[in-house]
Amino acid sequence: MVPMAEQREHQVAFGIDIGGSGIKGAPVDLTTGEFTADRQRVRTPDRSTPEAVGEILAELVGGFDLADDAPIGVAFPAPLDHGVVRFIANLHKSWKGVDLPALVREATGHDAVAVNDADAAGVGEQRYGAAKGRDGVVLLATLGTGIGSALLVDGALVPNTELGHLEIDGHDAESRAAESARDREDLSWEKWAKRLQRYFETVEMLLSPDLIVVGGGISKQHEKFLPLLDLRAEIIPATLRNRAGIVGAASLAARPH
Ligand code: BGC
Repeated sequence: MVPMAEQREHQVAFGIDIGGSGIKGAPVDLTTGEFTADRQRVRTPDRSTPEAVGEILAELVGGFDLADDAPIGVAFPAPLDHGVVRFIANLHKSWKGVDLPALVREATGHDAVAVNDADAAGVGEQRYGAAKGRDGVVLLATLGTGIGSALLVDGALVPNTELGHLEIDGHDAESRAAESARDREDLSWEKWAKRLQRYFETVEMLLSPDLIVVGGGISKQHEKFLPLLDLRAEIIPATLRNRAGIVGAASLAARPH
């Protein structure tokens, strides 16, 4: 007989979200999806190499009182082939080919899984947030430095969809429709919404989602742009907002499927 304590699944896992501007981490209660301690954030270094980020991860995780066997889930802004970085748009190019779970294990001493940041957010929203209990084809799009996408079919994730890099009207879609483009070009909500309309109608034509969930920090201001969109699918704001990556990654570390 396995003693009760060993039969129990992890109650808490640590989630990390590595982004273009910040690296954030918090321990997550896996029953509720809530943080069990305040989230910490460190600015992403200008030279965001694997070495520099590895040092930050060691410091970040070391600042929390974590059980030795607490798993770590990392959300990362690139497609990951079983943890290995395939290509990278918004961090240092030397990440290509890096085995991220191995780097995290080395830096922190904890077992780790690593997933694409939008995939992590999609799983977070599906397990604890706006898409909870929703079957069918669910697409989560995160609007931030880039555009991330997560595709869930009856709750199962189709990883690494990379729909932010669709070529639309001759442009890499995220270079025109990400929140960073709105900021860079100082676009009004109406002008930005036109670009989002073009983006989402293309995605809708390709995938016929039943539900689109819009995430990223800007989803806080969803009233300013979601009502301007006219799509067939229901489109709603994420509820975990920019916590979704941390929560989803932590949840995947404990329960991969
Ligand atoms: C990357 C994706 C990522 C998205 C959001 C894109 O540039 O290619 O992997 O999910 O940005 O960070």
